[in-house]
Amino acid sequence: GLFGPNGTGKTTLARILTGLNKPTQGTLEIRGKKVKPQECLKHVAVVLQNADHQLYMRTVFDELLTSLEAAGCRGGKQAAEELLQLFDLTELRDRHPHSLSGGQQQRLVIACAFAKKPDVIILDEPTSGLDGANLHRIAGALRQLSDEGKAVLVITHDLELVDMVCDSAIRLPLQKTNLSVTFQ
Ligand SMILES: Nc1ncnc2c1ncn2[C@@H]1O[C@H](COP(=O)(O)OP(=O)(O)OP(=O)(O)O)[C@@H](O)[C@H]1O
Ligand SMILES: [Mg+2]
Repeated sequence: GLFGPNGTGKTTLARILTGLNKPTQGTLEIRGKKVKPQECLKHVAVVLQNADHQLYMRTVFDELLTSLEAAGCRGGKQAAEELLQLFDLTELRDRHPHSLSGGQQQRLVIACAFAKKPDVIILDEPTSGLDGANLHRIAGALRQLSDEGKAVLVITHDLELVDMVCDSAIRLPLQKTNLSVTFQ
């Protein structure tokens, strides 16, 4: 788990670990071997805070199928059915992703991240907008992934979620020296 006040750099850290942002200093290593940021994209899936910005296809089912195909998954249709079930999306399979509610979209982007079969999955505020039943559903799915030996990093302000799914958690402190961004 990763938590801490607004603006401490939790999302920035997630983007760096995924290869979406370049670090200004330091190195990225996978199993002790230095790698370029773009190498991380092959191993790490990230679910960012704005779910709808990560949905591009015409239907929920196609969104999952495309994620599975991009990850080189064989038998994508069967795997897509399983993910629909795991995230309680079966009844929404033919809906346009942008027509879904916030919580439904959130479940779909998490399902798409699962489709990538990543070694590391990072979820930035995964439970914003989720009701109690779906909070437990996501927590269970994350626990299952962790039991399969995958690394799960959950960024959250929801200490109930930290309690439910995290074996350990780091608090990122607010460092005033980091706030050196200037605007013209
Ligand atoms: N693209 C950017 N350009 C300039 N500054 C940025 C950019 N993205 C983030 N920042 C700044 O970097 C700092 C860390 O932002 P970040 O989004 O990583 O925080 P956070 O810990 O995820 O906050 P929150 O809890 O609100 O989601 C903030 O001061 C933010 O304004
Ligand atoms: Mg953030």
